[in-house]
Amino acid sequence: MITPPAAGASVPPPSPAFRAMAPRAHHFRGSLGRFATGVAIVTFDGVNKRHGITVNSFTSVSMDPPLVLVSIAKATKAHDELSERPFTVNILGAEQQALAIHFAGKPGQEPLWVEGQVAPRLSSVLAFFECSPWAAYPGGDHTLYLGEVVDFNYRNGDALAFANGRFTTIPDSQLGVENLL
Ligand SMILES: Cc1cc2nc3c(=O)[nH]c(=O)nc-3n(C[C@H](O)[C@H](O)[C@H](O)COP(=O)(O)O)c2cc1C
Repeated sequence: MITPPAAGASVPPPSPAFRAMAPRAHHFRGSLGRFATGVAIVTFDGVNKRHGITVNSFTSVSMDPPLVLVSIAKATKAHDELSERPFTVNILGAEQQALAIHFAGKPGQEPLWVEGQVAPRLSSVLAFFECSPWAAYPGGDHTLYLGEVVDFNYRNGDALAFANGRFTTIPDSQLGVENLL
């Protein structure tokens, strides 16, 4: 997901590569949007408040050590505070679209929180990965935050998905074969 800068944020000058592709920026977004993803919320405790940010840039990175990655836009409130803090990646179930919207800048009803081992997490999610901070790499107008997984779990259920700029669902029966082995 490419995130537009927040209103009032100081924006660096566009790179030559961006200037060259700017007339096709809308097409670039549309092309990226053809990659269907799950939907997750990164949760963590900041200095003064608890944060949550909806992401679809979640990627598994490594089994040994167990590493996962999220790409966070520099323009978000979460960006600076996430640096060197433990966090949880909460993978959403099909019925949790309201949570995705809540943590994407349109707050609604306050969700139920669970105190995790190293970071707060959300109740009743499809899966979660609690992480200690591992590394942060520059990624243009985003930062790639890698976390080392210290606790995780999942439940059965349909998954929330995002494709072509819309929420959709993936039925449980198509989600891997762990229960059949
Ligand atoms: C489906 C979906 C996926 C998103 N994925 C990302 C992402 O991977 N990285 C990111 O920085 N923002 C992503 N966003 C945008 C943030 O959720 C949004 O900018 C949020 O309001 C930032 O919160 P904050 O400024 O309070 O930290 C996504 C939004 C949606 C709806």
